[in-house]
Amino acid sequence: MIEIKVPATSANIGVGFDCLGLAVSLYSTVLFEPSDKKLTISGCPEGFQNSHNLIYQSFVAACNFLQRPIPKIKITIQNNIPISRGLGSSAFCIVAGLAGANAWFGQPLSKTQLLELATKVEGHPDNVAPAIFGKMMASFIDDDHNVQTVPFELANNLHFIAIIPNYTVNTDQARKILPQEMTYQTATYQMGHAIALSKALEIGDFSLIKTAIVDKMHEPYRSQLIPDYHRVKQICENNAAVMYISGSGSTMMAITSDELISQKSFKELKKDFPQWEVLQLEIDTTG
Ligand code: HSE
Repeated sequence: MIEIKVPATSANIGVGFDCLGLAVSLYSTVLFEPSDKKLTISGCPEGFQNSHNLIYQSFVAACNFLQRPIPKIKITIQNNIPISRGLGSSAFCIVAGLAGANAWFGQPLSKTQLLELATKVEGHPDNVAPAIFGKMMASFIDDDHNVQTVPFELANNLHFIAIIPNYTVNTDQARKILPQEMTYQTATYQMGHAIALSKALEIGDFSLIKTAIVDKMHEPYRSQLIPDYHRVKQICENNAAVMYISGSGSTMMAITSDELISQKSFKELKKDFPQWEVLQLEIDTTG
């Protein structure tokens, strides 16, 4: 039996649209076992227990890439990553399926090759890169269509709180509402902020994080899809935390500069949103 464990991920981190992502300490697991039947899937809603399942599709994609026969297989999913909430649930499925097939055939693919395949399936690397390598990753597709990654070790004074609404945001819709173009002025703003944010997260400079995380590329548009965005942002700011939309939402991720502030913000958010999941998370470094 093969067991693959994949962390949840939080993409964009405010100003790093489609380029920055980090892995957090919330995990899902998939078991792959030989079977007499062509395909058995459990641990997900009935409508996903078929050959269209993204984990299975990704498993098949890896088999095809390796030019190996697709085995008869039993897939058991133990999912803890909320679906369609901007915490990398698709990346989990893709990475689990690819890594499962890779393990099945004796690990012929490197992590870099898995990332290339995963990015082809997902379309952008910002969730799949940290799902594979852990930590925070900057990633982009170069002119030769290869995925380039830059890992960042984050300072250990930083703490993360995932504020997960009881409603979803559809990523396709959240991409469609974005403008097709932006000005040089906005691009320059965005580049400067993204570079500064990456360094600020690495050295744990909370004041710089607060200044640098302010996004102009997607959050102003996507905040319209999250009715509680402004309320959550205000609560975070009142508690000395910064907040960004995780991936395309609906989750909002708060960052605090120390453990005590994190505990206080966590309690406040839990109290204000009793129907939601609010999770204290650390950066995943297992890779
Ligand atoms: N970077 C992606 C987006 C993450 O914001 O649309 C969601 O998959």
